[in-house]
Amino acid sequence: MDNDSVINELNTVLRGELMAAESYDLFISNTDDEKIRQIFGQFRADHKEHAELLAERIRSLGAAPGKGTGIPGMFSQIKLEFETRRKDSEEILKRAYFGEDKGVKMTEEIVKGDLDPESAELVGRILSKDREHLIAMMEIMQENLKQENDVKIRANDRQRWENDSQGQNFLN
Ligand SMILES: [Fe+2]
Repeated sequence: MDNDSVINELNTVLRGELMAAESYDLFISNTDDEKIRQIFGQFRADHKEHAELLAERIRSLGAAPGKGTGIPGMFSQIKLEFETRRKDSEEILKRAYFGEDKGVKMTEEIVKGDLDPESAELVGRILSKDREHLIAMMEIMQENLKQENDVKIRANDRQRWENDSQGQNFLN
């Protein structure tokens, strides 16, 4: 792969990282769930760091890194704003997971192409951090599901107990 193509691919990953950081900005401002805000704040910081590393790599290959996310980025942010406004934290978490998953798949495609070793190593490192984001979100979603289930089980137990004690009243 020639230098220009590598720079092109790195710029694509860079745009994705900038978009991800902007998305987490939006998610954070659309939720008041402290736990989510905190973890998304970390994700946002990771994406900003990735963007800086990519820009640095592009510079060292002799090119100027792309700035911002352009018109497509603007449209996708507007769409995202509509999709997450006034949504509960569970919906926002799902939307964030979906976005991150899409980003990971896109980056996986790029890393399959033949980047130079140093660029490939960097993109690989970014990819494994993003996979950690996916795992962390999956864990929160599973924990939430478990808690919902526990509440249901307790409500069921209570109902059964009430039914039983009514039955006993009848017997007495
Ligand atoms: Fe991420």
